[in-house]
Amino acid sequence: MQNWTHGYISDVSYDYSFFPELSPTSIAFNLLDGRCFPPGLEKFTYCELGCGQGFTTNILAATNPQGEFWGMDFNPTHTAEAQRLANAAQLKNIHFSDHSFAEFIEADTPPFDFITLHGVYSWIGDENRRNIVNLLRQKLKVGGAVYISYNTLPGWSALMPLRELMLQSPSKTGDSSLQRVEAGMAFAQQLHAMKARYFLENPTVKADLDAMAGDSRNYLAHEYFNQNWRPLYHSEVVEQLADAKLTFTISGDIDDQFYNFKLTDDQLNVLADIPDITRRETIRDFLFNTRFRRDLFVKGPVKLTALEQVELLSNFRFALIIDPEEMEYEVDLVGRPIKLDEPIYQPIISALAEQPRTLRELMGHTDLKRLEFATILQALKILISTYHVTPALPAEEEDYRRETVIGLNRAILKRARFGADTQILASPVTASGIDISRPEQLFLLAYLRKADLVQFVWSILQVQGEKLIKEDQVLESPEANQAELKAQAQNFMEQRLPLFQRLGLI
Ligand SMILES: C[S@@+](CC[C@H](N)C(=O)[O-])C[C@H]1O[C@@H](n2cnc3c(N)ncnc32)[C@H](O)[C@@H]1O
Repeated sequence: MQNWTHGYISDVSYDYSFFPELSPTSIAFNLLDGRCFPPGLEKFTYCELGCGQGFTTNILAATNPQGEFWGMDFNPTHTAEAQRLANAAQLKNIHFSDHSFAEFIEADTPPFDFITLHGVYSWIGDENRRNIVNLLRQKLKVGGAVYISYNTLPGWSALMPLRELMLQSPSKTGDSSLQRVEAGMAFAQQLHAMKARYFLENPTVKADLDAMAGDSRNYLAHEYFNQNWRPLYHSEVVEQLADAKLTFTISGDIDDQFYNFKLTDDQLNVLADIPDITRRETIRDFLFNTRFRRDLFVKGPVKLTALEQVELLSNFRFALIIDPEEMEYEVDLVGRPIKLDEPIYQPIISALAEQPRTLRELMGHTDLKRLEFATILQALKILISTYHVTPALPAEEEDYRRETVIGLNRAILKRARFGADTQILASPVTASGIDISRPEQLFLLAYLRKADLVQFVWSILQVQGEKLIKEDQVLESPEANQAELKAQAQNFMEQRLPLFQRLGLI
């Protein structure tokens, strides 16, 4: 083990991922929704701790040129990769470093308006958790916001021993982390087949073990094979972050607001009777057996009056991230099928299909004037949770943002020729990332190069020995692959390209 790692996995890199909940726009919207005054979005400083390969930070820096970004991760392979993309994109407002949390406390940085850490706090030891709290104490501005996610108890209680079992599986000296992952999963399956009482008395564990087979091995190595790994109760995190003068305000995941629909009246009454927010959230985690939380904390939260909240939310802008032709009114809201009320949702979708609009503009729209503020806001939140709409930055400066995303999107598209690890592009409209599949990225690249879409994409897939899958069948012959690509290219030109242009991806 290399001694700078403190037992953290360093021989395999973490997945290349983008997390929209980390965007300043999303954090500000959620804070406002929780009646808390957010840091301003006109100009700000932002830092992601343990940023991995920095994909999220790079997307956010390109889409928010009015902000100055820092990304840190002590694994130099991660930060080198992050810097490589930033260089290719010619981003000027981002600084990556390979400091550890302890070292970063001393690093010469300005104080931050936003500090985010995703998938970090439960994967490190107590000493590093204290380092993070010190860092938050010293580097967050008054009024600044922290997004922090962590594995949560009680959701992990049945599974915690499975990690120990995999760690204790017989492995050979010198095995890589990836070999230990395979050996650990196989050993756990072997003990399950032998009817080990742990599996018999914790029957839900087998489904989780089986599901691991479909997970990326790099993710599994980082999730389960670190020396330190500790899911936490929400109440513990609140207590620890209190040392940095931080107060929990609201979930950073809008879905959480809709999970309450799943509670019975008795359960809701229990929660309603708990005045203390920390206890209420912790008991709620027992009602849901929560496994993962995304919390927003603020240093010195200022509670808005209802009128102030309405005013600030009215100025928030929202963008449609689907093709309006594809809009379906039967949707799945946090795992529950619901029917959206068309007289409310249809005019909102049509108004946003014309252009992104603020809530105030929506309220003044001819077809929406009859609706209350609260009705439109609730509809927007449901549309955000169901991936139809996303909070966006104001229209001012959008042209400037268009210029700064071009370099990053070109760099990502070029990278898509070699693999499928970055299926996101940066949007100057939403100031965040937008999902886009690898074939669509390659079509976009062909379109920009004025090449024949089908031939261009097929030539890349063919060289890499890749084949398309249609209706769960691998298409074997070149003819079948090209025919499928032709159909996909037509859909791309007619439906996806107009959407991508509207969102400013190219
Ligand atoms: C599970 S990964 C999450 C990466 C990224 N935030 C994401 O969600 O994609 C945790 C990251 O924390 C970094 N890390 C762990 N301990 C650290 C320390 N003491 N100082 C700085 N970075 C650390 C690791 O190198 C790793 O990239």
